[in-house]
Amino acid sequence: MLDTAIRNATIVTAADRTKAEIGIKDGRIIAIAEDIGPAREEIDATGLLALPGGIDAHVHLEQPQGGGVVMADGFESGTRSAAAGGNTTVLPFALQQRGQSLREAVEAYHAAAKGKCYVDTSFHLIITDPTPQVLGQELPALVKAGYTSFKVFMTYDDMVLNDAQLIEVFDLARREKAMVMVHAEGYDAIRYMARRLEEAGKTAPYYHAESRPQSVEREATHRAISHAELTNVPITIVHVSGREPMEQIQWAKKHGLNIFAETCPQYIALTAEDLKGLDMDFEGAKYVCSPPPRDLDSQKAIWEGLRDGTFDIFSSDHCPFRFDDPKGKNVQGARSSFRWVPNGIPGIETRLPILFSEGVSKGRISLERFVALTATNPAKLFGLYPRKGSIAVGADADITLWDPSREVVISQALMHHDCDYTPYEGFEVTGWPVRTILRGQTIFCEGDVIGAPGTGAYLERGTSQAFGG
Ligand code: URP
Ligand code: ZN
Ligand code: ZN
Ligand code: ZN
Repeated sequence: MLDTAIRNATIVTAADRTKAEIGIKDGRIIAIAEDIGPAREEIDATGLLALPGGIDAHVHLEQPQGGGVVMADGFESGTRSAAAGGNTTVLPFALQQRGQSLREAVEAYHAAAKGKCYVDTSFHLIITDPTPQVLGQELPALVKAGYTSFKVFMTYDDMVLNDAQLIEVFDLARREKAMVMVHAEGYDAIRYMARRLEEAGKTAPYYHAESRPQSVEREATHRAISHAELTNVPITIVHVSGREPMEQIQWAKKHGLNIFAETCPQYIALTAEDLKGLDMDFEGAKYVCSPPPRDLDSQKAIWEGLRDGTFDIFSSDHCPFRFDDPKGKNVQGARSSFRWVPNGIPGIETRLPILFSEGVSKGRISLERFVALTATNPAKLFGLYPRKGSIAVGADADITLWDPSREVVISQALMHHDCDYTPYEGFEVTGWPVRTILRGQTIFCEGDVIGAPGTGAYLERGTSQAFGG
């Protein structure tokens, strides 16, 4: 007999939608049919969509910061918030600090996450110190052990890689078949802009946006694409914010380069105007992230890109810092210059509702495209497919039951994170997750997280489909 039957749902995949029953046994989907027979647990999903559980491929949890700043979410609260937002898998980063061995970094993150996660997780690595030891031994061994992706930064004092280092990392990624995620913003240009703005007394959070204009992102995107062409490796440009970097990606795709791209909720739901706060005050710090949100023209461009395949995945870039906290946005110095405000905003719980509402409910993208961007493509890009990312016989029973017509006003009071605000306060959405099912077990239902920390498993990943697998 089946463990669980989900009846009367409309099942949506990246390819199509069908009305059928879903039969679950031992955590996996074993039947999709008109009539699957009896089950121990009955779930009536009349009026709901059955979507593959959301896969958030870009999440920062418990990542150490300089200057005494701490992230608002660790693995427990971050994955709890993810479950409440309709997600069953998240991919946080394991950051190598300069001078640290990668292996050591990875072990520290495993220790921090152990027994804490409500949803399945798997780490991307962040390479900040690509020494011969790291490139020659540690990384190849880690890729073979299932850490098949890593992120590199083209900016930030304590993380930036120069072009020679980027090329070495790309070259290794080709040899080992690992997916590189690139944070594309030009370091020197940002430093120049920040200095000039500060000299002119322009220090409010809003000037964070002026210090990193689209040209800075466009240039770095172009440079990363050129290095990827040179080394003949697929890469993913992450958190693409607007029209200008998008045009570089479109150029690359048109020329047959194997370039993938990600965008995030902040680039369709916020603009640089939000960084002005109430009156160019510190309230704007709530929206400081990098790249910064742009303007309405860029939002329009992002929608075109979400439709036409310029973007492959849609992730949150959840990177939460408490607002009213000297260990968060209000750290020492932050009120004297935007340069000290920690970069990043929370969004793991609001990613799916915002894309669904602004995209599907408003007719900008299809349901199938929504599923592709938020579950199927991330699974394929990061070596989790076909176990994750679709509703199919043999796959893990990771399913989100979604009410497409529920109207909700997003507010901090609804959130399950440990941050003290949401940048989407007051945002009205149509469409909301009702129930999140992880490997057959309900972990979230009607507003309540009912799973336990430790329900989530750690996933060793395979090779990205970008390598033709
Ligand atoms: O501002 C952001 N996005 N902070 C998080 C780190 C990153 O660059 O993704
Ligand atoms: Zn980044
Ligand atoms: Zn980011
Ligand atoms: Zn990020």
